[in-house]
Amino acid sequence: MKKAVVAASAALLTAGLATAAPAEARPGHHKPGHPHDGATSKITEAVTVNGILRHLRQFQRIANANGGNRASGLPGYEASVEYVTRQLEQAGYDVTRQEFTFPFFQELSPTTLTVDGSEVENAIFTYSGSGTVTGPIVPTNDIQVPPGPEADSSSSGCEAEDFEPAPAEPAIALVQRGTCTFEIKVDNAVAAGYEAVIVMNEGQEGRTDLIAGTLGNPKDVPVTGVTYQDGAALVEAGTPTATLTAEVEADPDRVTWNVIADLPKKALKKVKNPDEVVVVGAHLDSVTEGPGINDNGTGSAGILEIARQLTATGIDRKLERPVRFAFWGAEELGLLGAEHYVGSLTDDELDSIYANLNFDMIGSPNYVRFVYDGDGSDGDAGPAGSAEIEKVFTDYFDREGLAHAPTAFDGRSDYGPFIEVGIPAGGLFTGAEGVKTEEQAETFGGTAGLAYDQCYHQACDDISNVSTKALHEMGDAAAHAVVAITTAKGGLYPLSDKPGHGKKPGKKAKPGKKGKGHGHHHGRGHGHGKRR
Ligand code: BES
Ligand code: ZN
Repeated sequence: MKKAVVAASAALLTAGLATAAPAEARPGHHKPGHPHDGATSKITEAVTVNGILRHLRQFQRIANANGGNRASGLPGYEASVEYVTRQLEQAGYDVTRQEFTFPFFQELSPTTLTVDGSEVENAIFTYSGSGTVTGPIVPTNDIQVPPGPEADSSSSGCEAEDFEPAPAEPAIALVQRGTCTFEIKVDNAVAAGYEAVIVMNEGQEGRTDLIAGTLGNPKDVPVTGVTYQDGAALVEAGTPTATLTAEVEADPDRVTWNVIADLPKKALKKVKNPDEVVVVGAHLDSVTEGPGINDNGTGSAGILEIARQLTATGIDRKLERPVRFAFWGAEELGLLGAEHYVGSLTDDELDSIYANLNFDMIGSPNYVRFVYDGDGSDGDAGPAGSAEIEKVFTDYFDREGLAHAPTAFDGRSDYGPFIEVGIPAGGLFTGAEGVKTEEQAETFGGTAGLAYDQCYHQACDDISNVSTKALHEMGDAAAHAVVAITTAKGGLYPLSDKPGHGKKPGKKAKPGKKGKGHGHHHGRGHGHGKRR
């Protein structure tokens, strides 16, 4: 806490003395009159760390006053919605609350698993049921110990026949990660008469840690995850007796909102290409475990300040295409707000979205300047147009002399539903639970071997869990991109080049396909979509 206050006031000073201090003393800061910054120096100067921090402090106050979090479905989220709405309205925007329902879930007390009298480390699954179940642990008949040759080779629990009928009442099923969704495994276990389920990791490299997943919808039985090693020990122990206790709150249809801000009518009238809307988004919700200041107070505060400064500077009256600021709800339970928004659009409305810019975590303490990999230089590319968006960010960083690295569109944030329907996307990210490599530490500074954000999805993701330097650099880059893209004469690419233009996909948008697995270094709070 103390450290951040010092860091914050140093940054505040830097921002306040922008015109007096030499450019060299302010790494990453825009140099006024930089020949390549074109029309965007006005916005990068107006968007300051100080301005962003004001909103972050407000989010922290909101969490403090509302049980320590800002999760969709709880009062801290509603207060966050009210705050950004008021700010946007004061800045002249036309603000709508888009209401939708979603399956709410929160763990009320730590889940415990006791086997033959000793506690086993475990992590509750999102949408687990509540209750205490004591009985024998029975593995499915197709569990692979040792693990199969490659990831996703176990189909444990994917078929009804994998379970022998529950031998006692009650009994606990043990299934292994792999092949089908966790929900299918749990539903099959329940159908075979089991009253609780333990999910063990699969066992290959990268699939040994404690596993925390999601079941997609509320279930009636307790479900928790264990490491591969602990799971294998349970298999070898025969049918040990265990007690699993979970206490959760689940609600299949709780109300929440996206906040959507469109340009003031006056500004919108002047826009040359009204059918090329740039949706600038950030999720406004936190996990239930904490205040969500880096994830994603930083993205929300960043785009809120960009929105405010856009009208304050009058840039909003000089745009080639409209900007729409979107504050997504229920991201942490599966990108549900963005999915609802994309799913609610007509074909014409879908066709009129020029791009989606996403800002999810832009102030990680041990940060890397990640730019979403639109051109696929490091794996899969985004939809056509995404390469041009990526280049807006990377060109900016290059001009500022700031290193950057690509990060995959792995479906873990709100661009997911947009790229699923072929809308070009891009944005920034400073890292979550991933661990900084030696190379990254050399390039970006910070500490190798430590997570980019050690408080990811935890109670300590508070106002002290933010790098103001990251916030400064990423805030400027985001501001630059918003203005560069909305003011580019002729655009970055023709809108009609979008694949899928003019057609709506057959199915409802779902979070993008999941990328490679990642470590689970702390047990709780990882939502994993329907990842297997
Ligand atoms: N801020 C994270 C996004 C993120 C985390 C992206 C780590 C890349 C790496 C986001 O709020 C989040 O937690 N997403 C979920 C997935 C979502 C579908 C529920 C996640 O990554 O577990
Ligand atoms: Zn998150």
